[in-house]
Amino acid sequence: MPRLLEVNGLNKRFGGLHATRDVSFCLEEGEIVGLIGPNGAGKTTLVNLITGIVRADTGSVVFRGRDVTAQRPWQAARGGLARTFQIVQPFPQMTVLENVSAGALFAGHAASRAQAEREAMEHLEFVGLAAEAHRPATALTLPSRKRLELAKSLAMRPRLLLLDEVNAGLNTAEIGQALALMRAIAARGVTILLIEHLMKVVMSLSQRILVLHHGELIAQGEPQAVIQDPRVVDAYLGSKFAARQAAHTSQYVATAEEQA
Ligand SMILES: Nc1ncnc2c1ncn2[C@@H]1O[C@H](COP(=O)(O)OP(=O)(O)OP(=O)(O)O)[C@@H](O)[C@H]1O
Ligand SMILES: [Mg+2]
Repeated sequence: MPRLLEVNGLNKRFGGLHATRDVSFCLEEGEIVGLIGPNGAGKTTLVNLITGIVRADTGSVVFRGRDVTAQRPWQAARGGLARTFQIVQPFPQMTVLENVSAGALFAGHAASRAQAEREAMEHLEFVGLAAEAHRPATALTLPSRKRLELAKSLAMRPRLLLLDEVNAGLNTAEIGQALALMRAIAARGVTILLIEHLMKVVMSLSQRILVLHHGELIAQGEPQAVIQDPRVVDAYLGSKFAARQAAHTSQYVATAEEQA
């Protein structure tokens, strides 16, 4: 079986800044993989490169065995690649339901607007926003806008979902719900690349973790090995986190599971 996604040597410069530097990795079907790294490390740029929003200088992206390096965002969506945006941008004149329907129409699944709206309603129920369906998108709180982003991306019926800080700004109870939601999405067979600063979320969901620093992939592998890697501790986690994590890992993960 071909790998779901192969990223080969992606380079992107903005002027003198190397936003990604020779980044290569693979995703297997059904995985949840965390992507972490400091602010400005190149995480969002990498998602933009994979989904055709930004064009790579060199390197390639192969999705389901096809070279998709030069594809446009709508082609990515139609091919089964969906993403959420870190800066949420709902269409302001539209209701919550219309925003999600637009996702279904963009990805070319819905035969009619009515069908798009029926599907959109199912996704809103799934993410817990059904009660807000007919409100203007601008009336939502930030955590709800994040869930709207998620519903919009699910409306594209993705095989691979790239989540860019979809849990930022959530409180503890909401994080528990978000964990459950992400597990439910994975259980539907969707592969997930999860950009996330909350290590509790990363550690309890990820089967593997990738670490970017100054545009370079400095580590990848099993979560426990990655968080103890000295380069990752130096670049991102800090030594206090590593010590705490080594002492309390099982308990820490269990707590996150309980919440979910
Ligand atoms: N369109 C652009 N033009 C110029 N510079 C850019 C552009 N997009 C990103 N950058 C720069 O590239 C670097 C990587 O940015 P990116 O947004 O990918 O980081 P990130 O890892 O997602 O950070 P954060 O955790 O803050 O979201 C940053 O220095 C950023 O300022
Ligand atoms: Mg980012």
